[in-house]
Amino acid sequence: MAQKFVTIQINGKEYEAKEGESVLSVANRENIDIPALCHNEALEPYGACRLCMVDVVGGPTKKGMTTSCTLKAADGLAVITDTDEIKNHRRVIFELYLAQAPGSEVIRDMAAKYGVTETRFEKKIVPSDPLGNKCILCGQCIRVCNEVMGIGAINYIGRGSNTRVNTPYLEPTSTCIGCGACADVCPTNAIRIEDIDDRRVMKSWSNTAVQLKQCRICGKYYAPNPLADYAYEKMDPQLKEELKDVCPDCRRKIVSKQGVLAKKGEITENA
Ligand code: SF4
Ligand code: FES
Repeated sequence: MAQKFVTIQINGKEYEAKEGESVLSVANRENIDIPALCHNEALEPYGACRLCMVDVVGGPTKKGMTTSCTLKAADGLAVITDTDEIKNHRRVIFELYLAQAPGSEVIRDMAAKYGVTETRFEKKIVPSDPLGNKCILCGQCIRVCNEVMGIGAINYIGRGSNTRVNTPYLEPTSTCIGCGACADVCPTNAIRIEDIDDRRVMKSWSNTAVQLKQCRICGKYYAPNPLADYAYEKMDPQLKEELKDVCPDCRRKIVSKQGVLAKKGEITENA
């Protein structure tokens, strides 16, 4: 079905948007500043961080403050991004995050950009926190592990003010495939992963270790076994055997050599 376009208003100015896309996406595209921490195009909008609030002042949607990442563009929708109420709301949220994640430089820098450098709330500093006192409990890591990778290696554990994200019972887990998607989506850079010799160690996830595949050509350890095997399954069947257990660098060399030989006519389609 053809994509339908609609016109929305942000701060009194009209913008074209795809029907149903988030107001936050439109604002990002148009360089309209709205702070956001838990928006990721790879995941369904969830509205966890509560920072991206806008005030709906017109259109088919209920009026009042709402999260722009979950607000869908519809014809005639009109929002304001910086009312006094919104600025106050942001200030409180930033103060909460400064207390919740005092180790996070990302939060400090972002809050400072909006004029918030101090917090009235008590800072929560946990000695030896595996997430470096940087986690805001947004749940992005849990969701990408579950919804995108289909793994479910981590989750919320504990209750109330002791809630945190980690592996069940804070034990290393055999479920984790070491893909690192959790670290990629974490908005506060809280998740630590290190490749040590032949293992990928998920430092933040109870030191869960995943075996790395060794390149049979150069000897380098290059990717967690489950990921390397998955990539192998997706390879061009004609090159598959030659590229088995080969790191991306060596793979590129093989593929480009094949290309040169093919151009010279020295290998046939079935070679
Ligand atoms: S570790 Fe990062 S992604 Fe996971 S809940 Fe905490 S802040 Fe969010
Ligand atoms: S980006 Fe909208 S609530 Fe976090």
